[in-house]
Amino acid sequence: MSENKVDTLITSSPFEAAKILLEGGIVVFPTETVYGIGASAFDFKACKKIYEVKNRPSDNPLILHVENLSSLKACGNVSEKAELVFQNFSPGPITGIFTKRNQDLFTAGLNTVALRIPSNSTAQFFLSFCDVPVAAPSANLSGKPSLTKIEYILEEFSGKVDCILKGEEPKIGIESTVIDFSSEPPVLLRPGFVDRNDLLTILPDLQGLETLAESSKIEAPRSPGLKYRHYAPICKVVLKNSLKNAPNDAAQIGFHTNSDSVFAMSVSSNEEYMRSLYAFFVECDRKGIKEAWCEIPKDGNGKEALINRISKAASK
Ligand code: TXA
Ligand code: MG
Repeated sequence: MSENKVDTLITSSPFEAAKILLEGGIVVFPTETVYGIGASAFDFKACKKIYEVKNRPSDNPLILHVENLSSLKACGNVSEKAELVFQNFSPGPITGIFTKRNQDLFTAGLNTVALRIPSNSTAQFFLSFCDVPVAAPSANLSGKPSLTKIEYILEEFSGKVDCILKGEEPKIGIESTVIDFSSEPPVLLRPGFVDRNDLLTILPDLQGLETLAESSKIEAPRSPGLKYRHYAPICKVVLKNSLKNAPNDAAQIGFHTNSDSVFAMSVSSNEEYMRSLYAFFVECDRKGIKEAWCEIPKDGNGKEALINRISKAASK
């Protein structure tokens, strides 16, 4: 981990931020899912610096962010099927894995590349000024919850990156849905806001990672990031059918929180749950809470993604 303190420019100008990135700098910027910590995907030195700042294992590749579909198609070999998915759900919270088309892109040694087109307006301006693919994992220290609020970003990354771009805050709150299109059939690697059921209407042969693991008995995770504990606060996280028996000193998030809880975040939909989950985790740690109870999400869109993130936070 780099101990050197750097001067961080905090700006609301996507143009200023793009200039810093194109000079080899690291820029934290908002997307509609969570904040990203980015560098030019053509600048391997800057990409490697992201790993140092995040303390990220070097075999976990980064997502490249591009402005539109034609830039995406310049980076990866995009099948007709995949293009249809991107036409339907993008710009937006969806990432595709493709075989690499441009060999000069940073992909952590893999011959595949993860690509996504964010819809966040600040990210869109920023990417258009950069005019290069921007490699960016979620802006958080490796293993910690992704960050969704500028106040957390300023606290965590001031003095560690060259620029923090302020703008439209993330509205979705959890990371993008990741689909592997690099071989047939496509595989859902990470559930997200774009739900499996919606994807199945366009991609009827979409596989889940579970079915793939069962059918081929694969041992190595298909996505390197999946083997790491993720999204986890310091406190113990539990997923519960009901919050009824939660002790008063446990924090709670869900649809039926208890009024005598030390810290509770009440939500009324799965969408609000997604938007609130990481901020809930961050606040639990700030308050020194020992245990966080998470109520099971409602059936329907977002349930799979929420259970995925909560279970990962709960696994030690
Ligand atoms: O919403 C998001 O996707 C956010 C924002 C910033 O765009 N980004 C994000 O990045 O969540 P990150 O690095 O935290 O997660 C990327 C995931 C990791 O699990 C990584 O292993 C996987 O995508 N990934 C990246 N490139 C891959 C590749 N070539 N093959 C398989 N998995 C890949
Ligand atoms: Mg991440």
